[in-house]
Amino acid sequence: MSKSAVIAIDGPAASGKSTVAERIAKELKFLYFDTGVMYRAVTLAVLNANIDPENEAEVSALAGKIGIDVQPPHKNDGRQYDVLLDGSDVTWAIRAARVNRNVSLISTYKGVREAMTSQQRLIGLHKNVVMVGRDIGTVVLPEADIKFYLDASVEERARRRFSEEQKRGVQVDLDQLINAMKERDRIDSTREIAPLRPAADAVILDTTDKNIEEVVTEVLAVIHTRLELSGM
Ligand code: DC
Repeated sequence: MSKSAVIAIDGPAASGKSTVAERIAKELKFLYFDTGVMYRAVTLAVLNANIDPENEAEVSALAGKIGIDVQPPHKNDGRQYDVLLDGSDVTWAIRAARVNRNVSLISTYKGVREAMTSQQRLIGLHKNVVMVGRDIGTVVLPEADIKFYLDASVEERARRRFSEEQKRGVQVDLDQLINAMKERDRIDSTREIAPLRPAADAVILDTTDKNIEEVVTEVLAVIHTRLELSGM
């Protein structure tokens, strides 16, 4: 497809958005950008620097100083991309439980969000991008051509995360995952700045009883219809 567009995909953790976004970006030959990695990289930097995650001023100052880069994958170990923090490969380190525990709090800080959002907008200026996150359709790229909001029950999302972790050889407890996910959902959707919620003009898809193929097919069908209708 040679048409160009900016596609925003938002939704809670493990709603399928990253997998679906990667697939459709490949199909459309668009850039795929997962904004969650930026908040995760800030969180890792905070923990590595022994800064108290509750110290908003210090966390925000650090967020403005670090360099986060996302590059095509240089290893074939299941990664979708390389995430570099000040030049070091942190692709798997940003998925650690200690990052999961602190990332939602750190994402509530105004200074952190401003630093990340401005970089994300620059990426979104280039057409042909599928950008994934919590606030892409509402705050980062409200002018996006097509917006999706993927959701699924918390139990199903925790089960998906559970099997992903098991595949990577990480031992986790399903009940703990459900509770941790509920807590992240709560913080992400009740924060003051850019809370997780569907944009008014988003296409909302519940993926609870759907596999990835079904969701990819639905999303692509919407994209093709919309782009044809708008004559882009
Ligand atoms: O999608 P993820 O699980 O990698 O995101 C990690 C955290 O980052 C999530 O709990 C909230 C935050 N986040 C955000 O606040 N805004 C975004 N656009 C993307 C992620």
